[in-house]
Amino acid sequence: MDENNIKILAISGSVRDNSSNSKLLRAVANLSSENVVFKFYNELETLPHFNPGIDNDESPPAPVTILRNYLKEADGVLFSTPEYANGVPGVLKNALDWIVSSGEFMNKPVAVISGSPHPGGGEKAHASLLLTLNMLSAKIVEGGTMMIPFITTKLNADGKITDPVMKQELINLINALVDDINKH
Ligand SMILES: Cc1cc2nc3c(=O)[nH]c(=O)nc-3n(C[C@H](O)[C@H](O)[C@H](O)COP(=O)(O)O)c2cc1C
Repeated sequence: MDENNIKILAISGSVRDNSSNSKLLRAVANLSSENVVFKFYNELETLPHFNPGIDNDESPPAPVTILRNYLKEADGVLFSTPEYANGVPGVLKNALDWIVSSGEFMNKPVAVISGSPHPGGGEKAHASLLLTLNMLSAKIVEGGTMMIPFITTKLNADGKITDPVMKQELINLINALVDDINKH
C-alpha cells in the first residue's frame, strides 16, 4: 500500500447481517478518491465486556489490543451507527469504553453518521456517540456529522445508494474528513 494513502477505519455500530449502517460505510468508501483506503472493522463481537479490572496496558485482552492497533494505524475514523432504545448500541459503547484509558482517539479526526429506518435518523444515538467521542478527545471534524432518516429507502438490496441528495451529503462528509486529515 502506498504510504501516502489516507487510512480510514470504518466502524459500524451494527453487527446485524444485512445492516444498513454497514452497507452505508461500504457505499461511502466507493465515493472516496483512490488514495483513501478503508478498513472495515467487523470485530465488535470479539471484544469482551468492558471491565476496568482487566484493562491494563501490559496485557489487555487480545481483541482489545487489535482494536487499539487499528485505531493507532488509522488517520481517521468513520462511524455509522443505528440507534437502539434511544441510545448507542451496547456493542459499540463497549468498544469505546475500552479506549478510554488507552487514548487512541485523542485528536483523531472522526466523522459520525447515524442511520435509522425511522424519521429521527438515530438522533439520540448520534448525540450520545458524540458525547462519548468528545470525552475521548476525538476530533469531530467540521461537516463530519450526519443523521440519516428512512435509511432503508435510500439504499437498494445491494447497498447501492439510490438517493442522490444523500449521496452528495455523504461525499461532502467524507471530503470533510479527508480534508481535515490532509491539513494536519
Ligand atoms: C431492540 C431494538 C430497538 C430499536 N430502537 C430504535 C430506536 O430507539 N431508534 C431508532 O431509530 N431505531 C430503533 N430501532 C430500529 C433500528 O434503527 C433498525 O433495526 C436499524 O435497521 C438497525 O440498523 P442496521 O440496519 O444498521 O442494523 C430498534 C431496533 C431494535 C431491534
